Amino acid sequence: MFLNVLYGVYVVVFICSTSGEPLRFKDGKFKIAQFTDLHYGEDEFTPWGPIQDKNSNHVMHSVLTAEKPDFVLFTGDTLTGNNIGSNATEYWKYVLSPCLQHDTPWAHVFGNHDDLSAEHGDRDTLMKYDQTFNLSHSVRGPRDLFGVSNYFLPIYGEGSDRVEAVIYMLDSGGGQIEEQVTPDQITWLYHTYHVNMQEYGPVPSILTFHIPPPEFEDLFNTGQCTGYLNNTVLPLPSEGLYKTILSLPNLHLVTTGHYHENDYCCSTENKLLCQGRHSGYGGYSDIARGSRIIQLEKDKLQTWIRMENRNIVDHIILKYHNFAIQES
Ligand SMILES: *[C@@H]1O[C@H](CO)[C@@H](O)[C@H](O)[C@H]1NC(C)=O
Ligand SMILES: *[C@@H]1O[C@H](CO)[C@@H](O)[C@H](O)[C@H]1NC(C)=O
Ligand SMILES: *[C@@H]1O[C@H](CO)[C@@H](O)[C@H](O)[C@H]1NC(C)=O
Repeated sequence: MFLNVLYGVYVVVFICSTSGEPLRFKDGKFKIAQFTDLHYGEDEFTPWGPIQDKNSNHVMHSVLTAEKPDFVLFTGDTLTGNNIGSNATEYWKYVLSPCLQHDTPWAHVFGNHDDLSAEHGDRDTLMKYDQTFNLSHSVRGPRDLFGVSNYFLPIYGEGSDRVEAVIYMLDSGGGQIEEQVTPDQITWLYHTYHVNMQEYGPVPSILTFHIPPPEFEDLFNTGQCTGYLNNTVLPLPSEGLYKTILSLPNLHLVTTGHYHENDYCCSTENKLLCQGRHSGYGGYSDIARGSRIIQLEKDKLQTWIRMENRNIVDHIILKYHNFAIQES
């Protein structure tokens, strides 16, 4: 009897703490497609808005078909919440539909527009809704931290229980909360990274959040880069973030969103600091839409941009240990 009760408790814990299958390397690779700034729900009462959303769905289908990624990272401004009345979760579901059709798991960080729907659009509501899908790996971060999307995801080895890579997420705020990355979040990142290093060993790691700090533009002006920086990177309260990023030895790539006309990727030492490609037809910019692809491997990572028309641009290879950057 006691055992049965205990078993029941375990089952409940198991269901609550896993959403679907763990993320795993396959054939030595773990491939991520970054969809950023999709801006669904813009101008829903004119013909223009719904057409943009349909076109954005087409971008995602194209990328998922061409790349067959293992995982999708939505890096914020998935919705233009300020234009949406009460059905923000309906739009959210629409955004997820390409991943559902392609059976591709995903996770979200929030941007500065997602939580601005008149009703039912706040971060927690969207997070809870997202988590009702088995393919969702989004996690509600610690309650005592600023924001909601502060968490990490372990990526396991093929057919093993060993963690072979980690993806970290931060909530850079905006919308109903301030745009910032707070000292507490930075401390959380630092500590979580080091605890994970102890536990998993020096596995390659990447970090994502929506709004980049201005130091990314300084690096664009001095570093070795691919792509464009056509929008000025504005000040963001995030003191210590850039320095902390540089101090984490196995953090090899950071990717952000927010600036639709930036899609650079710059190297400094053994890291790439990048911005995703504008993936949605909502929001400003006249450029061809696409998705930054990030492929983690054992001794290197590769990133490129897959365009909606299936062309590939800006392919870079970063070898973790000898800092070699190769543009191909
Ligand atoms: C949300 O509601 C608006 C207004 O009723 C409607 O025009 C729109 O199609 C809805 N969108 C979705 C994705 O359900
Ligand atoms: C989600 O997974 C559970 C447990 O495997 C399964 O019972 C349920 O049908 C799945 N839901 C969907 C919508 O696929
Ligand atoms: C940046 O500006 C250049 C020059 O106007 C243009 O050719 C390019 O398409 C723009 N790129 C992006 C990503 O906005």
